[in-house]
Amino acid sequence: MRQDLIDQARAVLARNDRGHYTVPTHGLYPFQWNWDSALSALGFAHYDEARAWTEIETLFDHQWEDGKVPHIIFHEMDDGYFPGPDVWGTARRIPTSGITQPPVTGFAVRRIFDRARDKAMAERRARALLPRIHAWHKWFYRNRDPQGTGLVAIIHPWESGRDNSVDWDEAFARVPTEGVAPFQRRDTSHANPAHRPTDEQYKRYIWLVQHFRSLGWDNTRLHDASPFRMVDPGFNAILIRSCSDLADLAQQLGETEIAADSRAFAERGIAAMDSLWHDGLGQYVCFDRAAGKQIDSPSIGGLLAAFCAIPHARAQAVAARIATLAESARFMVPSHDPTAPEYDGLRYWRGPVWLIVNYMISDGLKEAGQAGMAQRIDTDSIRLIEESGFAEYYDPITAEPCGGGSFTWTAAMVIEILNTEKSPA
Ligand code: GLC
Repeated sequence: MRQDLIDQARAVLARNDRGHYTVPTHGLYPFQWNWDSALSALGFAHYDEARAWTEIETLFDHQWEDGKVPHIIFHEMDDGYFPGPDVWGTARRIPTSGITQPPVTGFAVRRIFDRARDKAMAERRARALLPRIHAWHKWFYRNRDPQGTGLVAIIHPWESGRDNSVDWDEAFARVPTEGVAPFQRRDTSHANPAHRPTDEQYKRYIWLVQHFRSLGWDNTRLHDASPFRMVDPGFNAILIRSCSDLADLAQQLGETEIAADSRAFAERGIAAMDSLWHDGLGQYVCFDRAAGKQIDSPSIGGLLAAFCAIPHARAQAVAARIATLAESARFMVPSHDPTAPEYDGLRYWRGPVWLIVNYMISDGLKEAGQAGMAQRIDTDSIRLIEESGFAEYYDPITAEPCGGGSFTWTAAMVIEILNTEKSPA
């Protein structure tokens, strides 16, 4: 185990720790982000279990009455980020954004619970979180799958966590920009603009926010009212995996009703996932629900599908697909196929490698018996840190560190990977 790297990673977490939550990184992201917190808790759990539970509890303290857990909690005002609370207009005592993010908490809580050394504390805290996580999952299927297909749609690219992926380009072109109030971006003063989304994309992000706000953030209306409704295989895989992990956890805690409901969500989801398989590309792809068509975009969203229990033959195909990507990049797994014309190795989700996604893909592949590829991905994740530090994301060919530095969830993944790696036989 590389203790020096673990120590450095812990220092990054300490720097971004605000006591009861972490910020993704100082400056660029000065608030609490939803899936960042869930994944960062995995890092804390290796040396401070109480702090890990607190990270997740703080997030759920801001759950909306309808069950949604928002994507940003604006704990303390900071005008270094756009769009701030005044743009979201969600009218909450402690302001939050109005959209959500990948629901990875069910997975994280189960993992932290399973490994807990302090079993009594874990049981008490997991038991309290269980119904709240379940309420969030029910919220998804109720509001984001109104037709009961088994798969949920995101209504804003930011919900996917893969903000400017090539996957959204075609559908995003249908989102208007008229009526967007003039604004000043803040991200481009903290990070290189060439590593960030474009101004044109930002106008559309904000148009959607203004549109949802004009509907009073009423989640029963937003899905049908959004011109952007996308079924993302990665997002759905995270939800399905969290439902299935919550089912196991609920079973262990004797919460049989939550267990049965969660199991049913997961089974229906897994069956429906196959409709997102694309034979030509040999991976899963997004389905544009507003246009009623598959999106032929070879992105990492379709590989992240392996995070849930897809059939073993599909997991094997995903591993083979990653092996093909490895012919054109040095570090796995690029967020977009480097041979595709839209690929951009420095620009956010259009090419760079992200350690959190690596971790989830690798975890799913291990569960599916694809240990070789999983190991390759873990090794690449650590090599990136050794070459380039704890960045937000990395160029998959040159390892150039991009976006923000001293990044919380990147550091948390390093702690997690190094603490759980198998020692060589
Ligand atoms: C960016 C990422 C998103 C992440 C957030 C905070 O918006 O695309 O996935 O949650 O930054 O790190």
